[in-house]
Amino acid sequence: MLYDVDWSGADDMKHNAKTGPAALGALHRTKRPRKPQKKAVKDGPNSIDMRLKVSDILDALPFYVMLIDEQHHILQANRAVQTQLGVNVKDIIAKYCPTVIHGLDEPWYACPLEEAAKKGQPVEREALDRQSGRWVRSAIYPTGKSTADGRRIFFHTVSDITDRKQAEEQLRTSREELRDLSLHLESVREEERTNLAREIHDELGSLLTGLKIELSWLAKRTSREQGLLQAKVKSMYELVDEAIQTVKRISTELRPGVLDDLGLSAAIEWQSQELERRTEIKFEFTSSPKDIVPDRDRSTAIFRICQEALTNVVRHADATNVKVTLKEETGRIILRISDNGRGIEQKHLSDPKAFGLIGMRERASFWGGEVKIKGTPGRGTVVAVTIPLGSRENLNAKNTNCR
Ligand SMILES: Nc1ncnc2c1ncn2[C@@H]1O[C@H](COP(=O)(O)OP(=O)(O)OP(=O)(O)O)[C@@H](O)[C@H]1O
Ligand SMILES: [Mg+2]
Repeated sequence: MLYDVDWSGADDMKHNAKTGPAALGALHRTKRPRKPQKKAVKDGPNSIDMRLKVSDILDALPFYVMLIDEQHHILQANRAVQTQLGVNVKDIIAKYCPTVIHGLDEPWYACPLEEAAKKGQPVEREALDRQSGRWVRSAIYPTGKSTADGRRIFFHTVSDITDRKQAEEQLRTSREELRDLSLHLESVREEERTNLAREIHDELGSLLTGLKIELSWLAKRTSREQGLLQAKVKSMYELVDEAIQTVKRISTELRPGVLDDLGLSAAIEWQSQELERRTEIKFEFTSSPKDIVPDRDRSTAIFRICQEALTNVVRHADATNVKVTLKEETGRIILRISDNGRGIEQKHLSDPKAFGLIGMRERASFWGGEVKIKGTPGRGTVVAVTIPLGSRENLNAKNTNCR
C-alpha cells in the first residue's frame, strides 16, 4: 500500500477519567496488524468503555480534517471532506490537496503548510478563498511522524469561517458607525459651544459694557447730596462689572478663544494656569516646540482629552503636583499628563461606565491615535496620548484578506 497511515482502523478508544482520552495518538501511528479485540474488561468506577474509534471522532467534525504530506498530498480525510466536496475519500488519497480543496495547480496563497514544515510548528491562518468567495481557517499541525518512505505527516484542518467573519465585519462596521456618529455629535456640540461662546461674549458682553458706560455717566451726574442714589449707582456698577467677568468666564469655558486664536500649546497652558489658580495643585506645563498648532479638529480633540484628564486629576487624584508635556515629533503629537496622586485603580480603567475615560480613548482613536493610562498606588497616574498627524482617511487601514 502506498500510503500506510492508520486512521480508520484505529484502536477502540477507552476513556479513562484519570488519564483522559489516549487514543488521539493513534492518528499518527503507521498501520499495524489489527489486534484481536479485547473483551470488555471490568471497568473501574472512573473508566468507561466507549468502543470509539479515532475515525468516529474525526468523522463527527463538521469541517475538513486531513493528513497530508509535505508535498501537499492527501494521506487521509474525514467524512466532511467526502460529503462537502462530493467525493469519495478513496479517490482523493494521494491527490494534490490544493487541487482537491481549492481547484488550484499550486499551493493556495495562504496555505500554512510551507511555514509549518519549515518551523516544525503549528501554523493557523484565516484567509479569503478567492475561488469560492468564502473565508477559510486553514491550520497545519506537524505530527512528528513520517510515512514509510520518509515523508513528514501533517494534520490539516480547513473550516469555513465566513459567518463569523461576516458577523465580525458587521460588528466592526457598526462600531465604526457608532464612533463616527458619536464624533459627529461631538463636533456639532463643539460648533454649538463655539457659536454660543461667541454670542455670549460679543452680544451679552457688549450690552453689559454699554450698561457700564451708562452707569458711569450717571455716577458722574449724581451729586454728593444724593448719597443713597450714588451708593446705588456704585453698587450697580460693581454688579455689572461682575456680570462682565461671569460672561467672560462662561464663554471661555464653553470654548476657550485662545485655542482658536493662539493654538493648542497656548490653550493647554491657559487651562493649566486656570486650574492652578482655582485649586491648591501646582501645574507645570512644557511644550516642545513652544507653539504646537495642529488643525482645528485635532486641536479640539487633544484639548478636550487634556481637559478631561486634568479635570480627573482635580476631582479624583488628591494630587499636589501635575506635569503636562506636549511634544510634536515626526508625524505625531504626544501629550503626557502625570500627577502625584493616589493612582487610578485598575477597575476604573476597564469600567464600561467610565465615560470620561472612554470619551478620551474614542476621541484619540478617531484620529488613529491611542490613550494609555497607568496608575501606581500612592504614586500617581500617567495619561499618555498619541495622535498621528496626516490625513484621517489614511489612518484606518482596512484589514487585508489574510491574517
Ligand atoms: N488621575 C486620576 N487619579 C485617580 N483616579 C482617577 C484619575 N482619573 C480617573 N480616576 C478614576 O477613574 C474613574 C473614571 O474616570 P472618568 O473620567 O471616566 O469618570 P468621572 O471623572 O468619575 O466622571 P465623568 O464622566 O464626569 O468624567 C474616576 O471616577 C476615578 O475614580
Ligand atoms: Mg472624568
